Amino acid sequence: MKIVTVRAPSGHYEVKIGAGLLASLGAEIRACTAAKRCAVISGENVFPLYGEAALDSLRAAGLEAIPLVFPAGEETKCLLRYGELLRFLAENRFTRTDCVVALGGGVTGDLAGFAAATYQRGTGFVQVPTTLLAAVDSSVGGKTAVNLPEGKNQVGAFYQPRLVLCDTDTLTTLPERELRAGYAEVIKYAVLGDRVLFEALETETFELPAVIESCVRQKAEIIREDERDTGVRRLLNLGHTFGHAVESRSGYALLHGEAVAVGMAMICRAAVKKGLLSESDSEAVIALLAAFGLPTGTDDTADMLYDALLLDKKFSGGKLHLIVPRAIGRCEILPVTPPELRDWLEAGLHEQ
Ligand SMILES: NC(=O)c1ccc[n+]([C@@H]2O[C@H](COP(=O)([O-])OP(=O)(O)OC[C@H]3O[C@@H](n4cnc5c(N)ncnc54)[C@H](O)[C@@H]3O)[C@@H](O)[C@H]2O)c1
Repeated sequence: MKIVTVRAPSGHYEVKIGAGLLASLGAEIRACTAAKRCAVISGENVFPLYGEAALDSLRAAGLEAIPLVFPAGEETKCLLRYGELLRFLAENRFTRTDCVVALGGGVTGDLAGFAAATYQRGTGFVQVPTTLLAAVDSSVGGKTAVNLPEGKNQVGAFYQPRLVLCDTDTLTTLPERELRAGYAEVIKYAVLGDRVLFEALETETFELPAVIESCVRQKAEIIREDERDTGVRRLLNLGHTFGHAVESRSGYALLHGEAVAVGMAMICRAAVKKGLLSESDSEAVIALLAAFGLPTGTDDTADMLYDALLLDKKFSGGKLHLIVPRAIGRCEILPVTPPELRDWLEAGLHEQ
């Protein structure tokens, strides 16, 4: 088992990563909370696969465990489901010392986390990520949210879990496309700050638990410094600024990770044109994305993406923060004005 300790200003917790960990869920929750009861929140694809194992483990540890299963998909991250979850907790008389367990991907984690953050002003919360994206990204760091019809993640809270338990065996049932999309986030961490990881991915000499550990370790370091996304945490948006525009332009036909892959390829191409990144590093990033079966281009024009970006993004002080790779393993935050952003988009679209 690999363990990473997250030392966020609002709370410390461990991320445990390894095969077969679901069996110890109950004992782990007993060890880090005073909960007597657990609400196991899951999705319709995940619960039939891992729900019984989770409930069995909790009950074997002397905890009462009550499940609530939602439809799969991004639509579940909404106010209606959030309200249902709160009512479920209230009807079952959960208290602040009890625990909400999110068993699933980022959708389940974000929804359950936001309910945990707000039910009785905050109840115990444990993440059990079952997608690669959730394992390396969304389960760690305390961002929780639901969507509004007006936009994604518009209502949420920073709320750290008490524990993240990542059983890597659960990732074996993940659909191939979801797994590949998760690797886009892994490649993001490699480009951001881990050349060793980048080379391991290139040469296919890696094991998944170690890869997840590397990503989580990097995220933990960033969160220790900037929990609330006002400084270095912005680095985690590498590929996301352009990626969000590509994602919304696709009408969400692209998975988040796929759109991030396009966004990373675009920012690399643009950084080369601006003289900030070597052509060889850019080519290596784009080749790695392609090797993992991820898209690296779009048919959208700069104007289309610019319009989508203006709708989606807030310019603070008239500037938006672009994350620009300077070399594999080193990126920087570059504030840009709207006209500069338009120029970066244009530069990212076309081959050298
Ligand atoms: N909080 C954060 O910091 C953060 C960061 C990144 C993304 N997110 C959010 O995460 C969400 C995306 O998360 P995701 O990519 O995990 O998608 P997801 O939760 O929708 O899961 C993807 C699909 O895989 C299925 N699935 C999950 N685990 C499975 C398993 N082990 N076996 C078989 N099927 C399984 C799900 O039912 C779903 O159909 C988005 O809403 C995004 O906004 C949050």
